[in-house]
Amino acid sequence: MRRKLAAGNWKMNGLTASLGELQSLASAHPDPLVDILVCPPATLVSAAAQCCATLPIAIGGQDCHAERAGAHTGDISAEMLKDSGACAAILGHSERREHHGETSDMVRAKARAAHAAGLIAVICMGESLAQRDAANTLDIIAAQLALSIPDTSTAENLVIAYEPIWAIGTGKVPTPAQIGEVHDFIRTRLERRFGPGVGRGVRILYGGSVKPDNADTIFRVPNVDGALVGGASLRAEDFSPIIHALS
Ligand code: G3P
Repeated sequence: MRRKLAAGNWKMNGLTASLGELQSLASAHPDPLVDILVCPPATLVSAAAQCCATLPIAIGGQDCHAERAGAHTGDISAEMLKDSGACAAILGHSERREHHGETSDMVRAKARAAHAAGLIAVICMGESLAQRDAANTLDIIAAQLALSIPDTSTAENLVIAYEPIWAIGTGKVPTPAQIGEVHDFIRTRLERRFGPGVGRGVRILYGGSVKPDNADTIFRVPNVDGALVGGASLRAEDFSPIIHALS
């Protein structure tokens, strides 16, 4: 039985004062039936982890370097994230693939580093609108799955987030049938590669314009084990109803 997961990606948003949102979220969900993960910017990971030490909210990073240490100005290793109190790292987000030239090979190396450091790798994948219009969605997902997911993956240390690029921050959401087709496809591929135990245990999140008013519909789709939420995770009053819809 997969435990549901509500994950928030704050992206490049949040100052120290934003940590109050975590307190509000915990107050609204003192004993949540689902796992809650919040990934603030790197500057807040340590403080957020301290703030949530006794709260039912786990903290994650938004990226990590593939190497353990070295001359990489501005980068952060998986071990550093772990040391700061993070338990997970979002990897391969389309914004990093697009703006930082990250390839699936690079994402796989980062995920391997995350696993070595004891972090859960939340690996993102998804198609562009042009790729969907050309009926290439499943081919794109198949390639991203094959290349981005390392062999070190287990049911516990891997989470996949299906995020159609055209749905991120746009207010556009795929139909339940479109979401279901991709999530079923990912599940089948995971089972084929890792066997039924791992394949059925990995959680598959949907991400892209998840809001309080559409969460319920999205969460009814089979093989949707939760959401990776961007904008609506920034304020507890928006994230909280999404968590409720998952419970
Ligand atoms: O990683 C989450 C994200 O890309 C979705 O963003 O703002 O559309 O919920 P948003």
